[in-house]
Amino acid sequence: MSELKSNPEKIVIASQVFVPLLTEEKLQARIAELAVQISKEYEGKIPVFIGVLNGSFLFMSDLIRYVTIDCEIDFFKLSSYGDSQISSGEVKLLKELNCDVNGRDIIIVEDIVDSGLSVKYIEELFSGHKPKTMKLVSLLVKPDSLKYKVKIDYIGFNIPSKFVIGYGLDIAQKYRNLKSIYVLDE
Ligand code: IMP
Ligand code: MG
Repeated sequence: MSELKSNPEKIVIASQVFVPLLTEEKLQARIAELAVQISKEYEGKIPVFIGVLNGSFLFMSDLIRYVTIDCEIDFFKLSSYGDSQISSGEVKLLKELNCDVNGRDIIIVEDIVDSGLSVKYIEELFSGHKPKTMKLVSLLVKPDSLKYKVKIDYIGFNIPSKFVIGYGLDIAQKYRNLKSIYVLDE
């Protein structure tokens, strides 16, 4: 029986070695800071946090627990990677949003911005729905991988352009349940 420890020192997946990049403590401390900043900036408003599935589900759940103002949540689902480590260059909408964002203050919650293609798709998708304001928070950004000009309002961490897993992020759908983030040791 294979067993996944929650904080292993390294993870070997098909002879690829992943090592810790951001510990649970570091992640939680930064997410709490982002929540304080957002709570201040949205004081007196009721923003809708909109999570991009699947990757953002843990970040979203921790972020809104540190937020101290009233808020609502919703999710939609995009796919671009399939089971590969490289983007297919095509974004698909796999699950639609349920709430009406017209006239609302929305905050899109992403796990990671790599090329920026998904965020570009999201910006176009939502501008048609006429939110009052739209901001984007991403836990991780790979600045050296950005190929599209996108606006990221809140960034958890800038990281190197290497594949990462854990804390919501997967490799072929697995390892999302790690509490820390691991990077491919190249
Ligand atoms: P982009 O469209 O190229 O910016 O890629 C965005 C999406 O690809 C993210 O929302 C993730 O779901 C996925 N992704 C990008 N980089 C990684 C990674 O290093 N590990 C796991 N998923 C990733
Ligand atoms: Mg994502």
